[in-house]
Amino acid sequence: MNKPLYNFFTNDHRRIESLFEKAVENPNDVQTDLYHQFRTGLLKHIKMEEKVLFPAAQKANDDVPLSLQAKLRLDHGALTALMVVPPTPDVIKVIRYVMEKHDILEEEEGGMYDVCEKLTESETQNLLEQLENTTEVPVHPHNKADYALKAAKNALDRAGYNFDEIAK
Ligand SMILES: [Fe+2]
Ligand SMILES: [Fe+2]
Repeated sequence: MNKPLYNFFTNDHRRIESLFEKAVENPNDVQTDLYHQFRTGLLKHIKMEEKVLFPAAQKANDDVPLSLQAKLRLDHGALTALMVVPPTPDVIKVIRYVMEKHDILEEEEGGMYDVCEKLTESETQNLLEQLENTTEVPVHPHNKADYALKAAKNALDRAGYNFDEIAK
């Protein structure tokens, strides 16, 4: 089967991961420009899923949320909170870990992308157009305050991840 939406999102995962790995190649000296591209790329990707793909799939599913949707949304919340704090070596480890787990749930056979692709097969072109037209999410400078890291740790907890365990 032809899988245009699957390919669109999976290619975007690879693009975002490669920006990330280049930016943090030296975790003690993160490349600011590349990290910025990673950050805006990931936030736009999440926006495309939350505002275009998942709602279209839910609508096609008689407006019943898909079973993975709640967990993926919690992951998105955790990743978004991790984009707020400065990329310390611990934060980098945790981002890498969460992205890997998250992308598997979306990409694996029968995972979120497969389910969405099937449910929306009558409107693929329309969705691809909406995805192409999605605008970037504005970002603020990193927030170095303790509460920002605390917020990220709480968001991770809600998604089933423990920051300190992963960063160990
Ligand atoms: Fe996602
Ligand atoms: Fe994704």
